[in-house]
Amino acid sequence: MRIGIIGTGSMGGMLAKAWATAGKAEVFVYNRTPEKARELARQVPRIHVAASAQDVARFTDVLVVATRASDGRVLLDQIGDILAPSQVLATTISTIPLADLETCTRAKVAKIIPSIVQSVQSGVLLVSYGSRFSGPDQEFFESVLGQIALPFAVGEDQLRVCSDLTSCGPAFIASILNAWAEAATKTGRISRGEAEFLITHTFTSTANLFLSGLSAADVLQRVTVPGGVTEVGLDVLDGRVREVFEDLHTQTEQHSRCKSAVQPLASGQES
Ligand SMILES: NC(=O)c1ccc[n+]([C@@H]2O[C@H](COP(=O)([O-])OP(=O)(O)OC[C@H]3O[C@@H](n4cnc5c(N)ncnc54)[C@H](OP(=O)(O)O)[C@@H]3O)[C@@H](O)[C@H]2O)c1
Repeated sequence: MRIGIIGTGSMGGMLAKAWATAGKAEVFVYNRTPEKARELARQVPRIHVAASAQDVARFTDVLVVATRASDGRVLLDQIGDILAPSQVLATTISTIPLADLETCTRAKVAKIIPSIVQSVQSGVLLVSYGSRFSGPDQEFFESVLGQIALPFAVGEDQLRVCSDLTSCGPAFIASILNAWAEAATKTGRISRGEAEFLITHTFTSTANLFLSGLSAADVLQRVTVPGGVTEVGLDVLDGRVREVFEDLHTQTEQHSRCKSAVQPLASGQES
């Protein structure tokens, strides 16, 4: 199978590497600054540099456009007509509505929202399907996405909140870990490095507990002794944390709506 990627920046480069490393597809890439694509091909076997965006579009089964929104519209106008109904056109640009994508091409269109965690072959990759995807088409595409991540299909109206959880999520989690390490260091009892070491290992092993089948409620119940010190800490967190996350989702939603309303398509505004 042939996967094409146009735009080999942070997301496109990561996806190209992940698919090429998974070893089930040949990956054809094109980037506006050609050296970036050439460097990728030098690093990873199975990545091939195409001569133009049109070439990638012509010769691949699945095409991913991973440019910024501001570059995406012009590009889609250049390649949309080349694509056949049997091909898949997916984009990481969240701000272009699926219905608009369908006006550019006869291909089956989807939005995909990758996450930086795919650089370590893990995590969820969100996908939202346009109207031309049949059940078997979706199965095929999720098998392609499944080579590099856990695909999770959502409606277009769910993309914002789900992207907060999966794609922005690593940044939100890093920010929380950072703030916690800073606060622990402020006690004056441990160094910043020690705090980061301890929190990171606690974080990853708690994630492993969840993956082993324990729920958040299970963990809370097993760690919290009534009247103990964990309960004191939880009393501090409760309420405040919920409020912070409610505010976070409200504000990201408002930000997206605002950007889409002001400059709907070739806006240059990223989510
Ligand atoms: N970063 C994230 O965590 C994340 C997560 C989910 C979705 N997204 C979305 O994914 C898209 C890409 O994000 P990014 O962070 O990967 O951006 P990026 O690092 O700026 O990469 C964009 C790439 O597209 C290339 N490009 C622009 N116009 C092109 C054209 N006409 N033909 C070929 N290549 C072209 C750029 O080439 P040059 O080298 O010439 O600049 C650049 O390498 C954005 O729409 C973003 O909102 C990002």
